[in-house]
This record gives sequence, structure tokens and C-alpha cells, in this order.
Amino acid sequence: MSLEIHDGPLLARRTTLGLGGKTLAEIRAADPAGLEGLDDALARVGGRPLALGGGSNILAADHDLPVALVRLGRGGEPEVLPEVSPGKVRIAVWGGFPLAALVAWCGRRGLSGLAGMSGIPGTVGGAVAGNAGSYGRDMAGALCGITVWTPGGGLAEIGPERLSTGYRHFAIAGLEGFFVIARAILELEAGSEADVRREASEALAHKMATQPITAATAGCVFKNPEGQSAGRLLDMAGFRGKGMGGMEFSAMHANFLVNRGGGTSQAAFALIDAAREAVRSRFGHELELEVRVVS
Ligand code: EPU
Repeated sequence: MSLEIHDGPLLARRTTLGLGGKTLAEIRAADPAGLEGLDDALARVGGRPLALGGGSNILAADHDLPVALVRLGRGGEPEVLPEVSPGKVRIAVWGGFPLAALVAWCGRRGLSGLAGMSGIPGTVGGAVAGNAGSYGRDMAGALCGITVWTPGGGLAEIGPERLSTGYRHFAIAGLEGFFVIARAILELEAGSEADVRREASEALAHKMATQPITAATAGCVFKNPEGQSAGRLLDMAGFRGKGMGGMEFSAMHANFLVNRGGGTSQAAFALIDAAREAVRSRFGHELELEVRVVS
């Protein structure tokens, strides 16, 4: 079966922050054929659909959530498409494929463009939907098309002219509401394996030295205000290492909220409110959430 409906898990078990209450169901599609049954599956389950990648950018409330999770399986290896321009390599990759596996796959082939994103968790679909990035690279920099699934519309190819991307921003012109990114078309540059691997290992080493990447977090909580670092502002406002109820702003990097075990979403939201208020009153910056809230 390429589409399966399972009992709804606690979102705490599907998110890297380890928070979130019981969902209605988890619908898993293994491949494009599986997505053909998604309209029927969503109608059977009811509730609000939520496309879930690696759950690594989500802050979910602890109470029961009227949500139908839609997850894609890992799929096969990326596919190299026919060459379109010299020195460039186009690939197609399934939305459920892990981003870290894609970065490694590119490294083995000397394909440049994503190496700076080494150490970012999650899936390709989730990374596209949030325009994930680090160290000067982001998904938008390589993205030249997607295959999207929409309710009632099934699968459709979308070209770059309809994709609107920016700093941690992704939208599809003319499309509101729920969608699933089934496939991404990425354009990478043919480089040397040694250079690509070096860029990836430098990015990862820097990340490990400055970010709590092995802790239970959802990555950076807030977006950086223009020309500012949210982490530095939070640090200066006294929030580095500050915690309550099992949650704390990391002592390593103040823009990461860590679940130290037994944390609650109530504590997370209280810390976020307090931090926002402090940064607003002390520095005049309005911090905008980067994590997606599910409540
Ligand atoms: N800083 C502090 N105190 C802190 C944290 C940071 O003073 O507690 C200072 C650092 O010393 C540095 C500056 O703030 O001088 C910027 O920090 P960093 O280099 O860690 O970068 P960032 O702006 O905090 C951004 C992205 C990260 C991405 C890194 C590397 C956002 C919100 N964050 O962090 O992305 O990995 O650059 O490119 O855009 C994410 O999106 O989830 C994420 C982690």
C-alpha cells in the first residue's frame, strides 16, 4: 500500500522539540501514487490537515489537536535530470527525502549549492516550505520548480515564476491553504567533491560549536529582525540560559528553546511572550516567530 492511515500519534513524538498533544490520525504516502488517495483519506479522517516533514521547526500545544498529519515516506534516491546548461546539474527529489541525506548525496557527487546547509534536520519538503538555510545557502537558492499536491487538484508541476521565496519565506502564487510539496527540482553546480565536502564539514563544525544541535529544539525560535541577530538581542535581554517548567533558552545560543525533559508548551509560550516583551521594551524590535505554532 502506498497510502496508509494510522492512529494519530502525540505530536510530541513527531517533533524534535518533543512537545504536542494527540492528533486525529497520521496519513502516510510512500509515493506519488499514494497521494492519489489523499483526498479520500482526509475526508475519512476529518480535522485540519497538517503536512509534516521532519517536525523540526514546530512548536505544538500539549492539548488534543484536531489535526490529520500528512507525512511522506523517504522515497528513493534523487534523480538526475537531463542537462539544461553547462556546469549545472538538475535533480528531482521526493519531498520526504531527508535533507541531511540530500546534502550528503550532493557531497558524494561534487554538487555545490546545499553544502552550507549541513546540520539542518528535516525533510526536503519541509525545508522548501520554510526556505531553510544557513551560512549563505538556502533552499530557494537552488529551487527551480516543485510538484505540489492540493486538495481536489491532485499533483501539479509549478515553475519558478509562481514561487515566491525570501528569508525563511516560501509561497506559491495563486495558492492558499493546504498543500504538500511532493517533489522539488533543484539546480546545483558541478564542482569538486573535495570543495563541496569541505564546505559541508566547515558549516557543520561551526554549527556544532555555536548551536545546540543535539538538544531537543525546533531550531531558531525567532526570525532575525533586519540587520540584527535575534539570538544576540535575547542574550542582551538576559534570556540566554533562562528557563521554566522544563523549557529553557539555550545557554549556548539564546535563540534556541530547549526541552530539557518534561517541558510543556505552556512554559514554552510563557518564555516566548516574556522574551518578546523584553526585546520590544529594551531594544524596540518586534520579534517574529520562525517556528510554526500548531495549536
Ligand atoms: N549571539 C550572541 N548570543 C547568543 C547567540 C548569538 O551574542 O546567544 C551572536 C553571535 O555571537 C553572532 C551573532 O549573534 O555574533 C549571530 O549569531 P549566529 O552566527 O549564531 O547566527 P544567527 O543569526 O543567530 C542564523 C540563522 C540560523 C543559521 C545561522 C547560520 C536565523 C533566525 N538564524 O543564526 O538558522 O543556522 O544564522 O547561518 O535566521 C534556523 O533558521 O532555525 C537557524 C538556526
